[in-house]
Amino acid sequence: MPSPIRAQLPAAKAGFQRALLAWYRANARPLPWRLNPSLYQTVVSEFMLQQTQVKTVLPYLARWLIELPDFAALAAAPETRVLKLWEGLGYYSRARNLHKLAQAVAALPAPPRTPAEWQELPGVGPYTAAAITSISFHAPAACVDGNVVRILARLTADATPYRDSASAAKVFAPLAAALLPASHPGDHNQAMMELGATVCFRQNPLCLTCPVLKFCAAGQRGDPENYPQLASKKMEQVAVTRVWIERRGSLLLHLSAQSARRLANQHELPTAAQAGLTDAAAAAGELLAKKRRGITRYQITESIHAVPASAKPTAGWHAGLVWVPLTALDTITLSGPHRRWVKEILAGKS
Ligand code: ADE
Repeated sequence: MPSPIRAQLPAAKAGFQRALLAWYRANARPLPWRLNPSLYQTVVSEFMLQQTQVKTVLPYLARWLIELPDFAALAAAPETRVLKLWEGLGYYSRARNLHKLAQAVAALPAPPRTPAEWQELPGVGPYTAAAITSISFHAPAACVDGNVVRILARLTADATPYRDSASAAKVFAPLAAALLPASHPGDHNQAMMELGATVCFRQNPLCLTCPVLKFCAAGQRGDPENYPQLASKKMEQVAVTRVWIERRGSLLLHLSAQSARRLANQHELPTAAQAGLTDAAAAAGELLAKKRRGITRYQITESIHAVPASAKPTAGWHAGLVWVPLTALDTITLSGPHRRWVKEILAGKS
């Protein structure tokens, strides 16, 4: 059931669109993909931004565009080079999909122009397809992600409980589409993203400086933080024991297979099990570091223990184990957190 406010919004739509766009033109951060946009830069930046914050993406994007300046260069690059350039951004399937996408686009006489065609390409979902085609081809496609859901739920003071942001996005997609102006869909989409990133924060939104406060039901009522109503994520606790095994100037690492979904061709400190040890045997070694990180709904605690090379049985060794000279660590692809941990542990040892 549309709420009365939701039904009213399209009526106020022209005013909303004008206020949002004027604010965006005056206040948008001068991000590289906005300053001198090209289709290629838009595609690469949208892939990098899929799960990563703008400030993290900036140095990666700059380096990427120098090393792989267009679809043809990316299509021709070996996958190891692509993954090396992505190292530290995480979610490596994005890099592999982007690589495949470049190969597909480079083989076409001209890049596709519609959201439906882009969604046929690897790694492109509805959000990325809408972003790419609205920005590059003025396609009338609205981007709906967690930020946009938050803005729309507040505009309409929608108190419906949603299971998660993805199911709310489906419900809000028609409203997002109804608000999209035909003339500047790309700028409108980026303005919504910008509003979500710089004003309409999850907590403590800056309603007093918001360009669309007068259109916002929750802002008018003064309770924006109550929207959207998302069921809280239940985090599952996971403990991982990892080992630090050095032998004659080399460190034992685990290299994931090329075909691995998450970490293809990436090195990590091995788990006790990968090194043929029980967690208890590994945990008898000195604790070098304890790290916590959240990945999707898992709260992972990783303990890294120093284990003498002699303690490690050679039977039961995992196939991906490799000795890497400490002097060669900069030349291999280590997954982002592991590079930080290894650096930290080596610094602590020196
Ligand atoms: N997040 C995803 N796409 C974006 C864009 N084009 N600008 C800012 N943040 C984004």
